[in-house]
Amino acid sequence: MGDDPLYAASRDVMGSEFRIDRLAPEDPPWDLLLDADPNRTMIMDYWPRGRAYGLWHGPDLIAEAVFLPTRPLTWELINVAVRDAWRRRGLARALIARGLEDAHRAGIRVVEVGTADATLGALQLYLTMGFRIVGVDMDFFVRLYRDPVVDNGRLCRDMIRLALDLSVPGLAGVEED
Ligand SMILES: CC(C)(COP(=O)(O)OP(=O)(O)OC[C@H]1O[C@@H](n2cnc3c(N)ncnc32)[C@H](O)[C@@H]1OP(=O)(O)O)[C@@H](O)C(=O)NCCC(=O)NCCS
Repeated sequence: MGDDPLYAASRDVMGSEFRIDRLAPEDPPWDLLLDADPNRTMIMDYWPRGRAYGLWHGPDLIAEAVFLPTRPLTWELINVAVRDAWRRRGLARALIARGLEDAHRAGIRVVEVGTADATLGALQLYLTMGFRIVGVDMDFFVRLYRDPVVDNGRLCRDMIRLALDLSVPGLAGVEED
């Protein structure tokens, strides 16, 4: 995967003033986590089981991504957020690319992600990284969230499920078995 132009470009875009590292389990960055997922109870459930990455600009944490091992050989990108002022600079892409590299190194075959039907920026991000739509969980947000979830002024209703197959040659730079 290290040779794949998409992931190499993601690293280059950051510059040396940025740093990606694992986040300590005892220190969840609540403001960022809640920006991506308004359900604190659900975050408290997956945070201790997740593999979390932070992206720092100098001493400031400006983005996070959490991957969760779900099934054998499968991780889910369960939470990702970038501070408002730092968006559209390729930072989420770089952070996710780092997680995908580690997933590949760990022998993971599939990385999954879900996003709301109203969260079009995130959907575009995942699609441009090679994730493909594998299903739609109808009325997910209506069933699981007590209060209406609104993004970009639109009510979130369905969950779009996507997956990236890390074993597809050329897509993620992974050798065939
Ligand atoms: C979604 C989010 C993580 C994207 O972070 P980011 O650092 O701005 O994303 P990037 O700069 O890496 O974007 C890479 C590509 O994704 C797409 N993209 C990202 N945000 C987009 C937006 N708001 N609208 C359209 N396309 C978008 C673009 O194709 C972009 O490439 P480009 O800027 O060259 O056009 C950020 O907007 C965020 O934190 N949102 C709030 C939390 C959230 O919704 N998390 C996702 C929950 S599923």
